[in-house]
Amino acid sequence: MKKRVPVTLLFALAAVFAITSVSAEEAGHPTIERQPWSFSGFTGQFDRAQLQRGFQVYKEICSNCHALKHLDFRNLVQPGGPEFPEAAVKALAKSWPNQITDGPNDQGKMFERPPLLSDPILGPYKNDQEARAAQNGALPPDLSLVARARDVERNPSWWIHPFLMLGDIANGYQEGGADYIYALLTGFSDAPADFKLVEGKFYNKVFPGHQISMPPPLSDGAVAYQDGTPQTVDNYAHDVVAFLSWAADPSLDTRKQIGWQVILYLIVTTALLYLGKKRIWASIKH
Ligand code: HEC
Repeated sequence: MKKRVPVTLLFALAAVFAITSVSAEEAGHPTIERQPWSFSGFTGQFDRAQLQRGFQVYKEICSNCHALKHLDFRNLVQPGGPEFPEAAVKALAKSWPNQITDGPNDQGKMFERPPLLSDPILGPYKNDQEARAAQNGALPPDLSLVARARDVERNPSWWIHPFLMLGDIANGYQEGGADYIYALLTGFSDAPADFKLVEGKFYNKVFPGHQISMPPPLSDGAVAYQDGTPQTVDNYAHDVVAFLSWAADPSLDTRKQIGWQVILYLIVTTALLYLGKKRIWASIKH
């Protein structure tokens, strides 16, 4: 009789193959390197201090063009996020440059007021048209979910794809969006001599088509960190991307913790059920 190859062995082979073939298959496309995120893999968690620095980068730089409208100020206080003190966030909301339109008031007029803890984090523009008018026709997307909305694009041969997917499952890899945005923020440079850059656009090696309407937003020393972290583009990019990853997936920490607790619970339950079964059937001959 033929021997069957165990399925697990196939899976393991596929995973090893996928991991080793990742760099080879992307020849000709900009390689997006995987970053060592604190929140990656099966057990990774967000780093509080990094989320706080990341918000600072968003506030001082990105919020000049981008909104975070699916995030409320109160989320910055809640457990699992940057966990700023409530008083500090209240003060921050009060001084936020982008006001909330509220109303109508007693005279039937809409009016502007500073945000409260329960209000969304708005960008500078009232609507998409205003944003486009100010940004040379391009729309700076809302950043609340962008870390989930983007991914690393891969163009391997069709038959490699399933192996790559199995490799990612084996690694618990789901940080494609974060890796892409990091590569985007650090991927600006002068255009190669033979590249025709449209006026008002900037060369970026990972943006599809290589010309983007966003000017390079980060430069060394642009944000003054309070905790002694070196003020480099590399750190700013890592920190703001970690913050955007949290914004797009605020329950990651709890989800991973509960996941492990459930697995532990299932192991204990399985052991107890097995012992119970042995005991119940002990007296019966079979
Ligand atoms: C001066 C305005 C401006 C600033 C400041 C700015 N952006 Fe942008 N950003 C834009 C515009 C405009 C676009 C749309 C680009 C396009 O479609 O060509 C964009 C696009 C993006 C995209 C989407 C790229 C894609 O794949 O579609 C991301 C992510 C992004 N910005 C992140 C950031 C982050 C993070 C910061 C802060 C570090 C930042 N931006 C600062 C104007 C800005």
